[in-house]
Amino acid sequence: MSSPLIEAFELTKQFGSVQALTGLNFKVFPGEIYGLLGPNGAGKTTTIKAIIGLVDPTSGWVKVQGCDPTKNSVKVKSKIGYVAEKPILYESLSARDFLEFVASIRKIDQASVNRVVTQLGDAFDMAEYFDAPIATLSTGMKQKVALISSFVHQPPVLLLDEPLSGLDAKTSRIVKDLLLLHTQKGGAVLFSTHIMEVAESICTRIGIIYEGKIVAEGTLDQLKTKTGNKSETLEEVFLKLTNEEHEVADKTRLLGEAFFKDEVA
Ligand SMILES: Nc1ncnc2c1ncn2[C@@H]1O[C@H](COP(=O)(O)OP(=O)(O)O)[C@@H](O)[C@H]1O
Ligand SMILES: [Mg+2]
Repeated sequence: MSSPLIEAFELTKQFGSVQALTGLNFKVFPGEIYGLLGPNGAGKTTTIKAIIGLVDPTSGWVKVQGCDPTKNSVKVKSKIGYVAEKPILYESLSARDFLEFVASIRKIDQASVNRVVTQLGDAFDMAEYFDAPIATLSTGMKQKVALISSFVHQPPVLLLDEPLSGLDAKTSRIVKDLLLLHTQKGGAVLFSTHIMEVAESICTRIGIIYEGKIVAEGTLDQLKTKTGNKSETLEEVFLKLTNEEHEVADKTRLLGEAFFKDEVA
């Protein structure tokens, strides 16, 4: 088996009294789209930030192609394309200027930038918006700019923190195809989401994260088998593994009692 592009080992992170990560382990290999699936507050963003070196682990370690971000942050960043949960864009710049700026930081020559920007701009139906200030673009458009900027230096590893939340169906499909192309060329994607269907439709392997650790991992089929009943949906598997099944039933019952006591019509 080839060596992992991303590896997290017994990763913990403490923010004051909050234990965000509690001994997290996983590996992502070339060719994989690994989905980190978990509820809000499970530790997805913290994990991704530890990989790119924006968060220093309290204990344990992360490696990207064997490189530790706490020791060699510049090298690790050069291997990664990162789209944050709330990407920071320079809103007064046009998308084109912003992408050229990102490329110049990445030391990419102008011709390559033009090529990538034109190709991705066409693929994302963005070409006509490229020269307008980013501030005037819709949320979905801004997300596309952030995505394109993460691809500019063609890194082996893509870290996407809840990337499809503001995208329409067509763009999601294009992103999915792009991720597939990326992995077919030996790249890897780590993808975080709290949305089951997204994980189900895009990821080749899923790690379910809950209270700061991976509680189950595998392909969709493997995960479904794990809880005993092959016919279950990923949603049921997820709720079971994160112990939220009972909580959901309780909340639904409470809501039912509060709102649906009387006949509606
Ligand atoms: N900088 C921070 N300071 C304090 N607590 C934080 C910080 N970042 C994250 N947390 C806490 O760590 C936990 C995990 O957060 P996060 O990684 O953002 O989860 P997710 O992305 O899965 O929603 C949450 O309880 C969150 O409130
Ligand atoms: Mg998050």
